[in-house]
Amino acid sequence: MTVNAENNAGMQKSLPSDFYRSSAIFAQEKEKIFCRDWFCAGREDQIPAPGNVQVLNILGESVIVARTKEGEIRAHYNVCRHRGSRLLPEPGEELPADIKLLGGVLGANGIRCPYHLWTYALDGKLLNAPYTKEGEGFCKAEFSLYPVGVELWGGFIFLNLTPEVAVRDARTLKSSFGEAMERVKRYPLADLRTVKRIVYEVQANWKIILENYNECYHCGAVHPELCDVVPAFQQQGGAALEWEKGIPHKEGAVTFTWTGKTNRAPFPGLDENEKVRHKGELIYPNLMLSLACDHVAAFMLWPKASNRTTVTCDFLFHPDEIKKSDFASSDAIEFWDLVNRQDWEICKRVQQGTESRVHQFGYYAPMEDASLDIRRYVLEHLK
Ligand SMILES: [Fe+2]
Repeated sequence: MTVNAENNAGMQKSLPSDFYRSSAIFAQEKEKIFCRDWFCAGREDQIPAPGNVQVLNILGESVIVARTKEGEIRAHYNVCRHRGSRLLPEPGEELPADIKLLGGVLGANGIRCPYHLWTYALDGKLLNAPYTKEGEGFCKAEFSLYPVGVELWGGFIFLNLTPEVAVRDARTLKSSFGEAMERVKRYPLADLRTVKRIVYEVQANWKIILENYNECYHCGAVHPELCDVVPAFQQQGGAALEWEKGIPHKEGAVTFTWTGKTNRAPFPGLDENEKVRHKGELIYPNLMLSLACDHVAAFMLWPKASNRTTVTCDFLFHPDEIKKSDFASSDAIEFWDLVNRQDWEICKRVQQGTESRVHQFGYYAPMEDASLDIRRYVLEHLK
């Protein structure tokens, strides 16, 4: 069934449906988006001390993120420079009970490969290769781990899988962020601490999740509890929302909880609007930030396949509140968990329908303007 463009000038085509269901396009997105752009990989407070190490998997690339002896955060590919062995197992990977491998993390002193016991410092330098002699046809300095770029902002860790190209093209985190840093500058993001992380397995393409985050046309239908606290979300399909100023709650409400109220103090430094309104930012390719006056929900997307995405949701609170004896976070976290699961269910439905042979494009209605952004972002990167 064709749609006459002249009759439907207010409706914009989405990316072709293959962008949401083809593994070939997913592979291109890995190479041209996630291996090129800075993406968010977690919070600094998840590796607070020297010797703390995380192993992450980004579209199949295993990466070690570590806090060095000197307290810096560094990241490397999880690949030994000698024979390519993976240095550390990924979370949840277990050995058969009767097999032991040496190697692993040596606290702040480094990482040892299980294969021939080459040892690397957490900054990536090769420290020791057993039975080899420096200068006898071997220069250790040239066998550092393959680096991954690291930049920090607001307590978040951002990685770049092709750091030499980012340097060559002067593509810094700041240059890829746009105006978002400025818009959230009063929120004390770097001071906040992660109180809880929820991990969701979402049966949808990562772009469907971003597009859903970018529009509130669906809120009235999908999020009745949220619309009770934030009636503006269902007015005119969300067409009149002023995200820069912040979204107002119902009378007397100031945050995203069941009642819209909180006994947590607003973050220090917020302006009068920010103390009572809600802000949101989408930082391509994989960070969605929802900013209330008293907590932040930070979503990171980890695309797994064309139709599958892991979403981690970190709930951040101010340390002054966390240390109070009556501190509780469940009013916000349980509320969010419901809203999140509502979103993931509807994203799954979009994925299911998009996989039908009759579906060639979706359409954005006028109040979904912000979702057009992703079309531009993805096409620019894949050309
Ligand atoms: Fe939603």
